[in-house]
Amino acid sequence: MLWKNTDTNFKPGELMKQSAVCAGTFDPLTFGHLDVIERASRIFPRVVVGVAKSEAKSPLFSLDERIDLVRTSTTHLLGIEVKSFSGLLVDFAEQESASVIVRGLRAFSDFEYEFQMALTNRQMKPVIETLFLMPKQDYSYVSSSNVREIAKMGGNIDQFVPAPILKALHGRYS
Ligand code: COA
Repeated sequence: MLWKNTDTNFKPGELMKQSAVCAGTFDPLTFGHLDVIERASRIFPRVVVGVAKSEAKSPLFSLDERIDLVRTSTTHLLGIEVKSFSGLLVDFAEQESASVIVRGLRAFSDFEYEFQMALTNRQMKPVIETLFLMPKQDYSYVSSSNVREIAKMGGNIDQFVPAPILKALHGRYS
């Protein structure tokens, strides 16, 4: 009866047979995001990548472009679905019948924000678990805004983003 101690009713080991959600603005997707999505796809049979509208961030790429870029960058992975969402992440997870929210933890500096978000999400929907995965160390400092800035100033971003994103950024700033 160990599982009864948590808010979820899954028996031991069952959670990893469920769907998971990986969410972000992905403006644009980086190798760091992709690393977390790949790790999640090795754990869960179905991973829904939720591309947040994030209008407040005034993204460089439109929602449709971001979805398309995530899709074309994840074609090598099985069990991945890419969808947009607006509103609460827990509602999106529920709508997608996902029991887990996967988040990438790059550095200690991410912790405070992620901790707050995970506990708030748990407060709203106790049955949804948050799982943190660490991307490869090489990507622990990469962020979408860094990548956008380097691309804008003509720097080399090959090591930070997959080929479709590289092409899209070159197109945007050429
Ligand atoms: N590798 C590389 N970069 C990463 C990364 C990783 N593994 N994880 C995060 N980042 C970067 C992102 O690129 C982003 O960089 P930027 O600020 O330079 O663009 C930054 O870290 C923040 O990323 P993230 O925390 O994923 O923010 P986000 O804006 O992309 O997505 C949502 C956050 C959409 C998941 C979150 O705001 C959300 O859940 N929104 C829905 C509303 C909601 O439910 N609110 C209540 C929350 S308690």
